[in-house]
Amino acid sequence: MATTLQESIEELLPEIIALRHELHTHPEIRFEEVWTSDRIATFLTENGIEHKRGYAKGTGIVAWIKGGGERTVALRTDMDALDIQEETGLDYTSTIPQRMHACGHDGHMANLCGVAKLLNGRRDELKGTVKFIFQPAEELAAGGRYMVEEGAIADADAVFGLHCWPTLPVGSVGFKSGAAMASADMFIINVTGKGCHAADPGAGVDPILVAAHITTALQSIVSRETNPWDAAVVTVARINSGFASNVIPETAIMEGTFRALSEKVRLRLRDSIERIATLTALAHRARAEVIFSPDCYPLLYNDEAMTKFVRDTAESALGSERLIDLKYPTMGAEDFAFYLQEKPGSFFFIGNNPSDTEPYPNLHSPHFNFSDDALPTSIELMSAVAIRFLAGL
Ligand code: NI
Repeated sequence: MATTLQESIEELLPEIIALRHELHTHPEIRFEEVWTSDRIATFLTENGIEHKRGYAKGTGIVAWIKGGGERTVALRTDMDALDIQEETGLDYTSTIPQRMHACGHDGHMANLCGVAKLLNGRRDELKGTVKFIFQPAEELAAGGRYMVEEGAIADADAVFGLHCWPTLPVGSVGFKSGAAMASADMFIINVTGKGCHAADPGAGVDPILVAAHITTALQSIVSRETNPWDAAVVTVARINSGFASNVIPETAIMEGTFRALSEKVRLRLRDSIERIATLTALAHRARAEVIFSPDCYPLLYNDEAMTKFVRDTAESALGSERLIDLKYPTMGAEDFAFYLQEKPGSFFFIGNNPSDTEPYPNLHSPHFNFSDDALPTSIELMSAVAIRFLAGL
């Protein structure tokens, strides 16, 4: 008798949970995922799943399972951890100081390994090829862009990804069609004044005061220059200047980010930041140079038809009471956006809060931990998405 997806998942779950805990103890940040990449490759080899290594500066992996048929579907996970000291107290806590899987990418990897193992056992039923994209450096360094540029999904007809979501209950899945996650740009503003004795400010130009004026003036972009119906965020996250209480320094360095839900708004924010920073500095006899990071994350736009397809798949696999239609996009960013610029697809959100009543630590918190109880839902949904997409359903 054929086993159901749920029965197969129940069987492989202990191994996948153990793998998740193992990955959790070895967090590695952007492009340093060497141990992680080796561990994933070992898992794939042990299960007889073909794969190619060396993507995205070395740690990225693309694996594939070929069934009978022309269609190809790509499923993606991120691999990297964060520069955070873990404070969960788990018995499988991070063994590396100042490194932590605080965004659940350990769970995303374990999930994709589970999906790969499950579908490998059913390769005779697959009506096409499933590709598994293990991508480094989701945080800050746009690893997804490298995978796309290196052709990881060039032959795919569609691409799907997920993220654990601590504001949704375990067992549920969140969907957002269209603009789902904001674009994210980083900026640096170098303010140059003129250093002097702190007791004689007229002899110099105080870059700290100028940085403060710029910070305040930048807040007028969202409040005074942006249509209230257009979501936008401008944040100055860091100002660095000065060494002593009796010296007005020569320079100040400001860093921040801006977020938008459309390319039009994004470009307008960029222009406004440059204009306000440089001219505010000039007004105060200083100079400001604005540098925008080339590693911008584009807007994550979920294809309407593909999002409906995943939602319909979830409804038939999990039942409608576990589906959540998210009302608002998030101003957080995701480099899955690069895949969606290349191919149609959808990015969905796997509930991660085990409690019905208590809030759960948020992503990037030193207390966050991916909930193992979310794995049966994520493995089942992602497997069903691949099977149904290849079958043309
Ligand atoms: Ni993440």
